Amino acid sequence: MSVEGKKKQSGNKEKSLQPPREKSARAYLKSLGEYEAMHKRALEDPENYWAERAKLLTWFKPWERVLDYDFIDNPKVEWFKGGKLNASYNCLDRHITGKRRNKVALIWQGDPEDDVRIWTYQMLYDRVCRFASALKKLGVRKGDRVVIYLPMIPELVVSMLACTRIGAVHVCVFAGFSTGSVQTRVQDAEAKVVITADGMFRAGRVMPLKSIMDEALKDCSSVRRVIVVNRANMPTTMRERRDLWWRDVMADRSLDANLPCAHMDAEDNLFILYTSGSTGKPKGVRHSIGGYLTYAAHTMQLVFDHREEDVHWCTADIGWVTGHTYTVYGPLLLGGTTVMFEGGPRWPDPDRFWQIVEKYRVNTFYTAPTAIRTLIREGDEWVEKYDLSSLRVLGSVGEPIGPDTWNWYRNKIGGGKLPVVDTWWQTETGGIMISPLPFATPLKPGSATLPLPGIDTTVLKEDGTPASQGEAGHLVIKRPWPGMMTGVFGDASKFKETYFSRFPGYFLSGDGVRLDEDGYHWLLGRLDDVINVSGHRFSTAEMEAAFNAHPAVAESSVVGMPHDVKGEVIYAFVHLTLEEKPTESLRADLRKWLRKEIGPIATPEYIQFVNGLPKTRSGKIMRRVLRKIVSGNVDELGDLTTLSDPGVVDELLGEWERLTGKSVLS
Ligand code: WTA
Repeated sequence: MSVEGKKKQSGNKEKSLQPPREKSARAYLKSLGEYEAMHKRALEDPENYWAERAKLLTWFKPWERVLDYDFIDNPKVEWFKGGKLNASYNCLDRHITGKRRNKVALIWQGDPEDDVRIWTYQMLYDRVCRFASALKKLGVRKGDRVVIYLPMIPELVVSMLACTRIGAVHVCVFAGFSTGSVQTRVQDAEAKVVITADGMFRAGRVMPLKSIMDEALKDCSSVRRVIVVNRANMPTTMRERRDLWWRDVMADRSLDANLPCAHMDAEDNLFILYTSGSTGKPKGVRHSIGGYLTYAAHTMQLVFDHREEDVHWCTADIGWVTGHTYTVYGPLLLGGTTVMFEGGPRWPDPDRFWQIVEKYRVNTFYTAPTAIRTLIREGDEWVEKYDLSSLRVLGSVGEPIGPDTWNWYRNKIGGGKLPVVDTWWQTETGGIMISPLPFATPLKPGSATLPLPGIDTTVLKEDGTPASQGEAGHLVIKRPWPGMMTGVFGDASKFKETYFSRFPGYFLSGDGVRLDEDGYHWLLGRLDDVINVSGHRFSTAEMEAAFNAHPAVAESSVVGMPHDVKGEVIYAFVHLTLEEKPTESLRADLRKWLRKEIGPIATPEYIQFVNGLPKTRSGKIMRRVLRKIVSGNVDELGDLTTLSDPGVVDELLGEWERLTGKSVLS
């Protein structure tokens, strides 16, 4: 999409809200002036700035060089070369040798209210060492990939940290994905071991996982072992010589409960996380140990103003990057207490979040706009019952949070005074990039405000020239930061092609942005073919590939349709093969197909059968036109003269109105 096509969001003349005074005295950064000074220093002397921040970690051997990079010819980035460290050591060992040994590391709240597990650092360490020892016995070696397909249960954290302890690379796959998506990821990562569960709880229901994995594994020759956690007591078929129950693995008394950790190179892979881009195939985003962990600890400390005594709760699933950085690594690196929740916001009642905040006296809370919008609809009475006075910082992530949602969050959850940090970042960036510092940055509802210290954001127009103030453009980043991805797994050229070829010398985010007169960032959503459904990132190309694989489909095109609660929903235009007739049962069948190929979260809201798609004379589908149609915005359809059959647009619009019950705006 062209940046000019993005509409301006709310006005930027908004009066800014000053950070709460009484809380700022203890904050890491206390004023805008302090932030500005730090930002300036970090830009002028990045090597020293980041070297200092890397001291948040414990290193077995110091680095020889802080940074080596190239953003133009042969894009690469290397942080802390020569340094040696270990992630699980930093999250566990260094805490248990001191006063944090019996501090609570993890508070796990199950979907059923009475299912709670509370683990100290010592307890988590013990499990991680023993499971790491088991993985080693099963033949997992440094650099091997382990796919973790688990619901939000403590074994997920144990598995991740156990991998890092022996230098294996974890590849978490969100438990909402189904067979097709799981299979692509296991295959691409060439995983040696897979960790899964029999099933999962979600909103009081039980859903299978192991059977989905079994089907996915039918065509994954690299996998030698499957370790299965019993979470749901579901009937489960175990394949001999391949499948093992977690509890049997852990019952082995010869496992080493003090397994020494591997001394890893700073630039070794810590994990791979697949994410959707503008092609049909998800990309395995690689993150390094030294750089990523430095950035996780650094942003956790500054953005949440993290305190030793804090209880931090990030509601994101660990299958996505937000859970990696702000449920697991950020809090544990700093020796904090992290809350992990298995369920969702509306079960059994839409007060679950606030009930949990009160129950554990949560101090810093981090969630997504889609969750907030869902809860706003349920009515304020669900909030008002609870004492939320423990909260100090409220965070938002995943999509633009409009001013209305922002204001409700601040007023209803934050009592009208808590700082709301709207944090912009991506799987690729590893950690938060643009965000207020809660006690330093004046806030404007709906704006992610300013880049964090040392983050060099720029706005470029289509032609690569800088956008002026108020003008929408591509958000790009001019120089590396430690949390930055280090490459695409298994595909050396993809890194350059995806992130550095559009504007050489800059990292391309794929997002649109506009800066106001104070340099505040107003994010405008994706400019590529990525859509954001309830804060989950999907590639439309991946869904089209799934549709096109169905025998009844000749051709398809998928776009995001704006939605009040979910941000966007999936709208598919499907052209059937000649023999097929459009029927309701076929529509239902296609929906089911997508759920199976990608996952329930990718269920299309609408499937419109079409006689033809708008194409250029050279046969290219004009997605721009389809996007306008589903937004009902016919005024902005733009130049249709290049269409091979302009008549198709009216036909599409008519059917869109019938399907959605909406009408065109003009
Ligand atoms: C979007 C999630 C506006 C954006 C951490 C980005 C946001 C994509 C914000 C990354 C925000 C994330 N305001 N948009 N505060 N945060 N996004 O990789 O489009 O799952 O490119 O990482 O989410 O999604 P991902």
